[in-house]
Amino acid sequence: MSVYGISLIYSSLMGAPYVPTKNKLALEILKEVKFKKNGLFVELGSGDARITRTAVKNYPIYGMAVDINGLLVFWSKILSRFDGSYSRINFVTKNILAVNLTKADYIYLFLFPELINKLIPKFNKELKKGTIIISHGFPVLEYKSKLIKKVERATFPTYYYRL
Ligand SMILES: C[S@@+](CC[C@H](N)C(=O)[O-])C[C@H]1O[C@@H](n2cnc3c(N)ncnc32)[C@H](O)[C@@H]1O
Repeated sequence: MSVYGISLIYSSLMGAPYVPTKNKLALEILKEVKFKKNGLFVELGSGDARITRTAVKNYPIYGMAVDINGLLVFWSKILSRFDGSYSRINFVTKNILAVNLTKADYIYLFLFPELINKLIPKFNKELKKGTIIISHGFPVLEYKSKLIKKVERATFPTYYYRL
């Protein structure tokens, strides 16, 4: 069974389903954002960190990839060793509700609405003004007035917010 199959089962058992964003989509999602040099890109619920790995390989930024599933974090480190992104990413095995977000410039989410809602008090407390939130799949309803772009796609839409 593949790492992805095992991870799917493991994450689901922990109440945190693992559904990766399609690789081809990663660049399309990222190209809508103007990244500033040395900015910090944080993927909350990073899976195999494909968005973060793609981001730091294509833009002059740093990444932090956070997932509760240690197997996925381990696998994402291996993948990043091979694709050359390792030195620019901080990999963290942790609940996203317990990670410090005060230094984030860009946040990427592909999470169910229930978990997004739980993040809101933390976002309100920790995120800097100007932080960009990219939410693939589901809107961040709390930030409706801060929506700067919505891109419809064949599968899920992507929502872009500036705080
Ligand atoms: C839908 S997948 C998205 C993976 C990746 N961001 C992508 O777009 O390919 C959601 C991920 O969030 C992780 N996750 C769910 N709840 C979490 C939590 N409370 N803390 C950290 N990670 C969590 C799961 O393990 C899973 O890898």
